Amino acid sequence: MKTVVYSYRDFDEKKWFDHYSKELGMELVICRDAPSKENVHLAEGCACMDILTSKMTRELIAKFHEAGVRYLATRTIGYDHIDVEAAKEFGIQVANAPYGPDGVADYTVMLILMSLRNMKRIIERTNIQDYTLKGSLGRELKDLTVGVIGTGRIGRTVVRDLSGFGCQILAYDLYPNEEAGRFAQYVPLEELFARADIITLHTPLTEENYHLVNEKTMSGMKDGVVIVNTARGPLIDIPALIAQIEKGKIGAAALDVVENEFGLYYYDRKSDVLSNRELAILRGFPNVTVSHHMAFYTENAIRTMVADSLKGCKCFMEGKENPWRVI
Ligand code: NAI
Repeated sequence: MKTVVYSYRDFDEKKWFDHYSKELGMELVICRDAPSKENVHLAEGCACMDILTSKMTRELIAKFHEAGVRYLATRTIGYDHIDVEAAKEFGIQVANAPYGPDGVADYTVMLILMSLRNMKRIIERTNIQDYTLKGSLGRELKDLTVGVIGTGRIGRTVVRDLSGFGCQILAYDLYPNEEAGRFAQYVPLEELFARADIITLHTPLTEENYHLVNEKTMSGMKDGVVIVNTARGPLIDIPALIAQIEKGKIGAAALDVVENEFGLYYYDRKSDVLSNRELAILRGFPNVTVSHHMAFYTENAIRTMVADSLKGCKCFMEGKENPWRVI
């Protein structure tokens, strides 16, 4: 049984696909593009299919089912790009590849420190040989209170990592856990907003928390608060954030994710005129750091994504218990 791999990347994934397909004795069919009606023929004779974050609509699922696919692995944690109801109806199993939380947690701590030390301004100045001090006075983490919203795999790792800096840590989650509770004090959300000097988001996006950071919630935050988002863009109402940055209410922001990033991030758009004004405004602020959904991107994560997606396919082929199966 063969496995067809879509959105295959040579520069970082190839070496791990080579390594694990050999180790697991699997035959792969490679496609560098995302799955589509045009390349569905590559899946013929493949029971397993391995994808990234491209949309798997009902229509596409039907096509791949017709080609013989019965197992769909995504080399990501999230699987909201797959129409799981359609997959269920067609009897296609779905699996993910949850890499460890440390890469995103490291990145979050880095963004917190960069924001507190005005690193964007420092780098920009150094690049033009402006070696002055004025306007780049930093703050020390030990003097501050960090509010962590969402203490699942990533949030609680951030809490653990921050505990070494001597700062006070507040946490909020619908389901508090003991591990985060060892280093952080769980408080109601309004209290976290009111007391935190830095607020970092680590919840999934749900209907309930869409635009969790909005005009009203920001009005309950401390003046000069730092907001960090390495979770999902729509957790923040960006026009409202821009307004509060302009008023000086928000001291700094670091955004690895933004609403409407789909179609921009991971593409080379440097010669294009973009219609995303909000992103242009954010990028222009000296106290806002924007990155293109990079927090996950480590050697360890890429290796795990490839390894676990293939191991799941192997379990399916051999009819074994599959820890990566989600549907
Ligand atoms: P997780 O599922 O382990 O933890 C999420 C936590 O959020 C849970 O404890 C849950 O109870 C809590 N939660 C859910 N809704 C909530 C709400 N309305 N209010 C308060 N707490 C709520 O998820 P994990 O793996 O820690 O991921 C956290 C976020 O990081 C997700 O949004 C994920 O999509 C994002 N992420 C971002 C990456 C990046 O590269 N920037 C990479 C990987 C994940």
